[in-house]
Amino acid sequence: MHRLGITPWESNRIPPALTNIAGGPSHAGIALDLGCGTGAHAAHLAESGWEVIGADVSRHAIAHARARSTRVDWRVVDITRETNALDDLAGRVDLLLDVGCLHGLSDIGHQRWAHVANLVATPNAQALVWATPPRGMPYRFGPRGISPTKVRALLGRTWFELDDRPDPDWYHYRRRP
Ligand SMILES: C[S@@+](CC[C@H](N)C(=O)[O-])C[C@H]1O[C@@H](n2cnc3c(N)ncnc32)[C@H](O)[C@@H]1O
Repeated sequence: MHRLGITPWESNRIPPALTNIAGGPSHAGIALDLGCGTGAHAAHLAESGWEVIGADVSRHAIAHARARSTRVDWRVVDITRETNALDDLAGRVDLLLDVGCLHGLSDIGHQRWAHVANLVATPNAQALVWATPPRGMPYRFGPRGISPTKVRALLGRTWFELDDRPDPDWYHYRRRP
């Protein structure tokens, strides 16, 4: 999609769910943006004082992201296949961000996403995820979606849900210490 220039999800508007965390009291740790695309959210976090790693499978998107900001560690990574590309972040990430990547992954991709989340997160880390529910079959365009039950199952045991979700498509979790 990035290569074809078809990126309907793109907007430079930073969602309040993220600005609240970016400038909040526990701000300025290490953040990992999974499926960062062209990097608007990662760049915003970097400008807010965070040390940020932005990972995306698309070289095209990361090229745009690099042009957007030099303050982020941009990486071309398929998070469902190259999980060891993020091994250097093990136990170091205070904020895991995913705006629209998880809900497009396969079932195996979900498991690998959860593996990455659990690998990189510090105790007490936050996870902020925007994911839409399944749209039913057959879906031709757009993400397949992921149910709240599935998101909770992926993060459920080692994370707990915070009750400040601005709307049902946002998930805000904290890792258990
Ligand atoms: C809907 S876009 C959202 C991009 C960005 N987070 C935003 O909000 O603008 C989903 C992104 O996930 C990336 N993506 C999909 N599968 C991925 C994977 N296996 N590993 C890394 N990135 C992936 C896509 O390349 C795309 O940039």
